[in-house]
Amino acid sequence: MPSPTSLVRPLVRRLHAYVPGEQPKIRGLIKLNTNENPYPPSPKVLAAVRAATDGRLRLYPNPTAQPLREKLARLHRCAPEQIFVGNGSDECLALAVRAFVEPADGSAARRRPAGRSLVQYFTPSYSLYPVLADMHGAVRRPVPLTKDFDLPDVLSRRRGDAWRFDAALTLVTTPNAPSGRGYSRTSLDAICHAQRGVVVLDEAYVDFAEEHALPLALAHPHVLVARTFSKAYSLCFQRVGYFVGHPTLIGALDRIRDSYNVKGLGQIAELATLDDLAYYRANFARIVHTRETLTRQLAALDFDVQPSQTNFLFARPPRFSAKIWQQKLRDRKILVRWFSAPDVRDYLRITIGTDAEARALARAAATILRAR
Ligand SMILES: Cc1ncc(COP(=O)(O)O)c(C=O)c1O
Repeated sequence: MPSPTSLVRPLVRRLHAYVPGEQPKIRGLIKLNTNENPYPPSPKVLAAVRAATDGRLRLYPNPTAQPLREKLARLHRCAPEQIFVGNGSDECLALAVRAFVEPADGSAARRRPAGRSLVQYFTPSYSLYPVLADMHGAVRRPVPLTKDFDLPDVLSRRRGDAWRFDAALTLVTTPNAPSGRGYSRTSLDAICHAQRGVVVLDEAYVDFAEEHALPLALAHPHVLVARTFSKAYSLCFQRVGYFVGHPTLIGALDRIRDSYNVKGLGQIAELATLDDLAYYRANFARIVHTRETLTRQLAALDFDVQPSQTNFLFARPPRFSAKIWQQKLRDRKILVRWFSAPDVRDYLRITIGTDAEARALARAAATILRAR
């Protein structure tokens, strides 16, 4: 009999899978660890989902999410052929790797890897990117951000190998996660101009930022902007994200996706979301207000808080290590995220909750600092 292990591809055996934030089983925790929105979806969205929860669940959903693509196209002033909808933006990102990057041949590690096999991304940024590259047998190419998480001056690196202009796929989280730092459209445009492969601008948190880069996806044939309904639109549960970009790139993704990749209730929820944007815009303003208040409160407690353009803060806590802070907050029923990677291990990532949750966090931090 073959051993089950020997049946699994070596690449899969070696893979370090993505680690999602904890979804706790215990009730009553203040959950500030996975950047979910603290406010529920709009009442109109909940009503639309309820109204669709009937015998129709036996039917397949619209295979191309066409009404949703059309509505998104109107929102972004483009054609439906420029919209790709996925099962969360995670699926969009995974399909981009499969559609645009060649798996590396075995010798890639020994010589200069070919651009067509490179997945390039800044570090720190979304920790799924290296996993997607590994899964595909592509070559990952992490490039450090500056010490304060700004974009490095890659354009001055024309010579040498530090930045690859020929990378098949370059992934940019903008605003950045986990640091929260925002980037200007102008600096992103300069990078897009210089790249010869596909560039994905992952705007998962952009609704909380001052600037967005969507026009770059409409101006450049090799640029895709990724958006999600998860964070700003309170719909993590429904798993819907999308790309905006050139019809040829969108068509390539369409060719390799599952036939019914976007769930029916997801499509219904997103359509209703787009009919009630005013509700969400009011929430963005509340979250940004809470973010600014919490930034000041934590700074007053000697936390080194990065300026944020997102719905989370990235802060280096005083006195104890970030890892110990995470545990001390957990002991007080507050969950925040800590990453063990060397470039971010000194920081806590704190999702912006309601005002009451943010106050509870600030109070807990003050109590921890007072205790001896
Ligand atoms: C930068 C970034 N991009 C994409 C995603 C994926 O979002 P979703 O798959 O829920 O649309 C996340 C989720 O944490 C994220 O942080």
